[in-house]
Amino acid sequence: MTRARIPITEFFSQESPIATEYRRLFQNLCKAGEKAELKSILITSAVTGEGKSTISSLLSITAARKGNRTLLIDCDIRRPAIHGLFQLERRYGLVDVLLDGEPSKDVIKKTAIDHLDVITAGKVTPHPSELFNTRTIDGMIQELKFYYDYLILDSPPVIPVSDPMLLAQAIDGVLMVVKAGETARQVAQRAVNIMTTNRANVLGVVLNNARNSLPYYYDYSNYHYNYSQTGDVNDNGGKTSGSSNSQQKNSNKFPRDGKHLTR
Ligand SMILES: Nc1ncnc2c1ncn2[C@@H]1O[C@H](COP(=O)(O)OP(=O)(O)OP(=O)(O)O)[C@@H](O)[C@H]1O
Ligand SMILES: [Mg+2]
Repeated sequence: MTRARIPITEFFSQESPIATEYRRLFQNLCKAGEKAELKSILITSAVTGEGKSTISSLLSITAARKGNRTLLIDCDIRRPAIHGLFQLERRYGLVDVLLDGEPSKDVIKKTAIDHLDVITAGKVTPHPSELFNTRTIDGMIQELKFYYDYLILDSPPVIPVSDPMLLAQAIDGVLMVVKAGETARQVAQRAVNIMTTNRANVLGVVLNNARNSLPYYYDYSNYHYNYSQTGDVNDNGGKTSGSSNSQQKNSNKFPRDGKHLTR
């Protein structure tokens, strides 16, 4: 396992264009939360490597920077990444709660960001598929909701494993990540179908890696955003649409080869 060279908390500048996109994404989620409770959000995708862990982390940082008490939970116990991104210990985390009945409050770890806590994946288990029992997860989520404004759950992909499907039963909404230019439409559609037929509340799709795949008119430079000195942005002209079709554009701050933000 390689670890992130710098923690994601240092990498993610509030002034960067990508931070603006995350603020928009979060704002759309807040709007969706006005209609129905939206305190727990699962981030998943059809297949591996579409950007789930990155997006979960950056969305959590964004929520916390807005002053919300936020808990990021690494529910990808097969390929956990959150501990690496935040440079925390993997051990003593979710698996310890679900398998050994450790109190969930005891496994919470603080981060360098105010209001942002993390539950890492925890110890390695040989039988990850047996871990996600909806009742246990549901109990844990309900308890943690009491202490936090937002719970953001990073999860494995939908098509290879059933964990996201089981997790989705216990949470308020699901954001699907699609890697633009790589994930075939039918594959992404199949993942959404799997989730919706299992009564998951799919909120929308976050399009990752868009800069390298979409035509020029989607490029950030074609939007006339008004920056102020504080880095705040005029939020009226964005392309990110409502909660049913949120788009997160790629930032070239991310190394394409993942050199800086690998596990
Ligand atoms: N928009 C982006 N542009 C370029 N690289 C990205 C982008 N988003 C994520 N990455 C990089 O792609 C790699 C995979 O990202 P990440 O780990 O977030 O995906 P994942 O969906 O969680 O993967 P897995 O299914 O293995 O858990 C990482 O090295 C990450 O830094
Ligand atoms: Mg991941």
